[in-house]
Amino acid sequence: MSTHRIAVLPGDGIGVDVTAEALKVLRRIEKKFGHSFRLEEYAVGGALIDRKGVPIDAETLHGCKKADAILYGAVGGPRWDSRPLGQTPLSAILTMRKELDCFANLRPVKLYPALAEASPLKRRIVDRGVDILIIRELTGGLYYSRGRGRDGEGPARRAYDTMEYSLREIERVVRFGFQAALGRRRRLTSIDKENVLETSKFWRETVEAVAPQFPEVRVSHLLVDAAAMRLITDPDTFDVIVTENTFGDILSDEAAVLAGSIGMLPSASLGEGCPGLYEPIHGSAPDIAGKGIANPIAAILTVAMMLQHSFGMPSEARAIEQAVEAVLTRGGRTRDIASGQPGEKMLTTVEMGEAIAGEI
Ligand code: IPM
Ligand code: MG
Repeated sequence: MSTHRIAVLPGDGIGVDVTAEALKVLRRIEKKFGHSFRLEEYAVGGALIDRKGVPIDAETLHGCKKADAILYGAVGGPRWDSRPLGQTPLSAILTMRKELDCFANLRPVKLYPALAEASPLKRRIVDRGVDILIIRELTGGLYYSRGRGRDGEGPARRAYDTMEYSLREIERVVRFGFQAALGRRRRLTSIDKENVLETSKFWRETVEAVAPQFPEVRVSHLLVDAAAMRLITDPDTFDVIVTENTFGDILSDEAAVLAGSIGMLPSASLGEGCPGLYEPIHGSAPDIAGKGIANPIAAILTVAMMLQHSFGMPSEARAIEQAVEAVLTRGGRTRDIASGQPGEKMLTTVEMGEAIAGEI
């Protein structure tokens, strides 16, 4: 039996609460399917600032690099908010993504039928189904601009960030998009701002150049503003989306609303040679940390993505997804996904974790 090494980085706020439940589910899978997972915990974000004065250090990075996969919670909180960019807790995750070269960020957005009432959209729209895979480019674009800074005096003071993409950066994530579409409904929507941005024109040309290698996939292009609208009016028209870093950040929070709550969405950041980096897309929510009301489902589904993508365990991943679905169908709810329907039962963070683990 081979041992899988997992670096665990709970971070701050509800990152700690939800990671504990995700590990409970992981241990259950380990026992039930006879696997062996070796967990090594590392401090990151505010927790590491308090201990060592920096949000990420060589020890944590090294631990991540030598692991087979990384399970990450969330970082940040008001105590560290006033630090300059680059020294905030958030800069830890940006450093990790870049250092590990996890360039393809997979964010599946799925509405569980039991949560249709938790989605703010009209039933006639969500009943058509929401099952979208957003692939966000994660290590380039505005987030990692080399031209970034401030200068000038008085009213001429200015600040700037620049958007830049190389052919290689676009090609590799676009290929990821095509590959993913092959395993799904074979539709790929590339989202850009081609009518204004040079990087977007280049992005669109690159998608067109890669497309002939995937003749089975129907590819289309959409401007990001129109895409934002269509996500809400016709979510069922999307299968796989591939897009630039900043657009993907914004659109994935928007899409999270379709699923009923941002507390439902997992993510996997992958790349060639990068140990998978797995994180729920929500943040550290310091206002509700430690109160037992955070939704651990995103973190738990993140474990399912880890089993699927890093360890080649599709049945185990499915077991987790089915357990989540079963608990939701029976009415189990945390506060963020409750809609006051009859039959709903309010659960704490720990109770939700235990219900899902117990179901497996
Ligand atoms: C996300 C988050 C991060 C991002 C923040 C925390 C840096 O919003 O993963 O979507 O912008 O990438
Ligand atoms: Mg975001």
